[in-house]
Amino acid sequence: MKIAITGGVGFIGSNFISFFCKKHPEIQIVNIDKMTYAANPLTLEILNTFSNHKFFKIDICDTTKIEKALEECDFIIHFAAETHVDRSFQNAQDFLVTDVIGTFRILEFIRKKKAIKKYIHISTDEVYGSIKIGSFSESSPLNPTNPYAASKASADLLVLSYIKCYQIPAIIARFTNNFGPFQHPEKFIPLAITNAIENKKIPIYGDGTQVRDWLFVEDTCRALEVLIEKGVPGNIYNVSACQEKQNLEVVQKILKLLGKKENLIVHIPDRVAHDKRYSLSCEKIKEIGFLPSFDFEKGLEITVKWYLENFNWWKTIKDSKEFKTYYKSRYPDL
Ligand SMILES: NC(=O)c1ccc[n+]([C@@H]2O[C@H](COP(=O)([O-])OP(=O)(O)OC[C@H]3O[C@@H](n4cnc5c(N)ncnc54)[C@H](O)[C@@H]3O)[C@@H](O)[C@H]2O)c1
Repeated sequence: MKIAITGGVGFIGSNFISFFCKKHPEIQIVNIDKMTYAANPLTLEILNTFSNHKFFKIDICDTTKIEKALEECDFIIHFAAETHVDRSFQNAQDFLVTDVIGTFRILEFIRKKKAIKKYIHISTDEVYGSIKIGSFSESSPLNPTNPYAASKASADLLVLSYIKCYQIPAIIARFTNNFGPFQHPEKFIPLAITNAIENKKIPIYGDGTQVRDWLFVEDTCRALEVLIEKGVPGNIYNVSACQEKQNLEVVQKILKLLGKKENLIVHIPDRVAHDKRYSLSCEKIKEIGFLPSFDFEKGLEITVKWYLENFNWWKTIKDSKEFKTYYKSRYPDL
């Protein structure tokens, strides 16, 4: 059996490949990644130590190369995307190209080839937008409120249309906010951890009362394993660990774990159209056997420890010209 992973050098993709290669050494993993700013070559070095992992540096929008790389694969798990909401305000085009056109290229391959057993399309709770009370189910309407979420929602609609029109064996998996090792330091939790380690200010949008529903990345890997085995093509599955936390509370917990003072926190003007609360109901994936095993506190402890022990991994990124330029444009006063 051969599984193709797109975006496998990124945060969730690389965690999934490590998890899967160790557990299933008999299964071949084909990793397709463009190696954008979001992919750390140090992550690839680790993945290359697995004998059942093969890497191809390819842009998913490149039809010829992508078709060749996917040729003998039985399963495709499509993670590759531009993923940082803040960057989507600055440059929405990259999001539309990779997240929508890139997905289209893969769908076209599956439609023409007709040999793929299952396609798992990785999506996000952001496609539903914000909810005041209760939780979104898989049939809730889509209401994306930023260019990243809109590009992901567009890709989801495209996948649904290919299921209806061409009966491709696709599953859409919508995950809540992930956290864990190997996440780029531009993202909320790693930025807070690494800035705290460096005794730098930690920016929090507005009053920090926005609520996100946190899922430890190893639980995401386990959910995907369940979907590979038991997910029914044609379906959407929400995946969450039902661990809602306010942003401010998350940063306070990080500071406590690191023994740092709360005066590192700096409140900055809130983001435009900042969704107040994300929440998913996950009965459907529970029915096919997925239950999360990491509570937020345990996952955060592991994550903080990983960033403390892997200074070089994230410091290389934070010291890069690319990161410094982005950081200055995003947080000009820090
Ligand atoms: N991180 C989260 O909290 C979260 C939550 C829900 C859903 N998701 C979804 O999960 C997926 C993975 O997210 P992540 O956090 O690991 O992202 P990431 O930004 O860490 O990694 C994305 C990877 O995709 C690659 N990539 C980007 N454009 C590409 C292209 N054109 N061709 C080939 N490769 C390309 C990058 O090089 C990178 O390795 C995304 O689809 C994202 O929308 C993420």
